[in-house]
Amino acid sequence: MLEIRDFAVNYGKHEALQGVSLAMGEAEIVVMLGANGAGKSTLLKAIAGIVPARPGSSLSFSGQSLIGLPAHQVLEKGVALVPEGRGVFPDLSVAENLSLGAYARRARSGERENLERVFQLFPRLAERRRQVVGTMSGGEQQMVAIGRALMSAPRLLMLDEPSLGLAPVLVEELFGVLPAVRRSGVGLLIVEQNVRLSLSIADRGYLIEAGQIVGEGAALHLANDPAVQQAFLGATQ
Ligand SMILES: Nc1ncnc2c1ncn2[C@@H]1O[C@H](COP(=O)(O)OP(=O)(O)O)[C@@H](O)[C@H]1O
Ligand SMILES: [Mg+2]
Repeated sequence: MLEIRDFAVNYGKHEALQGVSLAMGEAEIVVMLGANGAGKSTLLKAIAGIVPARPGSSLSFSGQSLIGLPAHQVLEKGVALVPEGRGVFPDLSVAENLSLGAYARRARSGERENLERVFQLFPRLAERRRQVVGTMSGGEQQMVAIGRALMSAPRLLMLDEPSLGLAPVLVEELFGVLPAVRRSGVGLLIVEQNVRLSLSIADRGYLIEAGQIVGEGAALHLANDPAVQQAFLGATQ
């Protein structure tokens, strides 16, 4: 479904990504693991069309190249990003935030069904549909952000550190929902610091270091890999 080859991104002279290759199948859950500054957010932003890839980079989704497309057109192709820090509108209600996610042309006619699906995945959002989002907990705001992205009817949903700053119980709840998102036919590309939990729901993972992919494998394999355990599952987990 997603195929990336020889992918590179520069910020001025700084090479944030070099020679990145990765592939994802339909409705797969893939996690990207790497230290701060490794280039994880840059990769998601470049796939989403928010930062440009360097010439010669190859990025295709369902057989169509996304190189050079602006962010709103990438969204129309079925690729949605929930950025780090969520990007919800704090002064608007849950319902208003969700309906803003439905502006994509691909999603307008299915808005009612998509809203039903979001409320099924996150019953809490149905209960709180009139609540102003700025008054909700971090975890609930993350649910709004994911719900809003799902309103664009994506086939690939990218999440940048969804567990950041959330209470552990809400992190568990959030990750508990993601397999159901996948079962509804949506692939997930997740950047996470919570390595153990993200590998527990993922099919595969990639390791990224200083802008390059340095490892990949089945999630179960990575979770048991001594190098991964030492790098990511040591002191912090
Ligand atoms: N807008 C930007 N301008 C310049 N450098 C940036 C910008 N965004 C990120 N970088 C740099 O690119 C590298 C990768 O950043 P990022 O993708 O945010 O890493 P990660 O998400 O893995 O922590 C870092 O060295 C960071 O300082
Ligand atoms: Mg980041």
